[in-house]
Amino acid sequence: MDTEMWKRAVAEAAAKLVRDKMVVGLGSGTTVAKVIQALVKLKSEAIFVPSSSATQRLANDLGLKLSSLDVHGKLDLMIDGADEVDPNFNMIKGRGGAHTREKIVAGAAKRVIIVVTKTKLVKRLGERAPVPVEVLPFAREYTIRRLAELGGEPRLRMGISGAPFITDNGNYVVDVKFHSIPQPSELEQEINCVPGVIENGLFIRVVDIVLVGHEGGHAKLRSKREFLKFMR
Ligand code: 5RP
Repeated sequence: MDTEMWKRAVAEAAAKLVRDKMVVGLGSGTTVAKVIQALVKLKSEAIFVPSSSATQRLANDLGLKLSSLDVHGKLDLMIDGADEVDPNFNMIKGRGGAHTREKIVAGAAKRVIIVVTKTKLVKRLGERAPVPVEVLPFAREYTIRRLAELGGEPRLRMGISGAPFITDNGNYVVDVKFHSIPQPSELEQEINCVPGVIENGLFIRVVDIVLVGHEGGHAKLRSKREFLKFMR
C-alpha cells in the first residue's frame, strides 16, 4: 500500500483547484505538506493563510505568499487533511495538534476541501482515531476527569522529549478514545462545554469536497451518496 503516492495524487488534484489571487487557508499535516509542494510546482500566485507554525514555516521556506486572518478575514478556500471522515463529511482532526486554528480558518472559508487517503474514510467516527482536545495546562487533571465522565478514555499527549506536547497556542492536548461516536455534533458541543477545554477535533458540517487518494489515483466526493458508493 503506497499511501505516499496516494497523498501525492490527491495533493496535486487539490492544488489545481487553487486559482491565482484566491485567498486560501492551509491546514496541517503530511498531506497538506504535499499540497504546498504541488502549489509551489504550479507557481501559484494565490495568497495563503497558514493554520499552524509548521505549515507557515514550510510554505514560507518554499516561497508561497502568506497572509493572516487579521489581514484576510474571508477566505475563498481552505485545504486541510483529516484523521477520519464519515459519510456525512464530519471529521476527526488534530493528530498534529493544530485543530483549534484549523477550525477557525475553516470557519472563515467559503469552501473547505479535505485531502485524505482512502484509509481515513470510516462508517462511523471514532472507529480508529481518538478525539484530540486542546486544554489549558492549568485545567489538565480537571478536564481529564470531566472527559472520562463523557464516556471517553482520555490520555494526555506527550511530546518526543517525554514532556507534555505543547500546541502552537501554548496548551496541552488530551486524546480521548470513544471507539464509536453515534452523535458527533452533540459530542462536539459537550466537550467544548467543559471549562478548561479550548477546542476539540470534531469538525461537523464544515466540509464541501473530500478528495480521496487511492491505488487508482484520486476520487472527488461531493455528497453522502458519492461517499457510500466509493466505500462499497
Ligand atoms: C493536524 C490535522 C491533520 O490535518 C491530520 O492529522 C491529517 O494529517 P496527515 O495528512 O499527516 O495524515 O488535523 O491537526
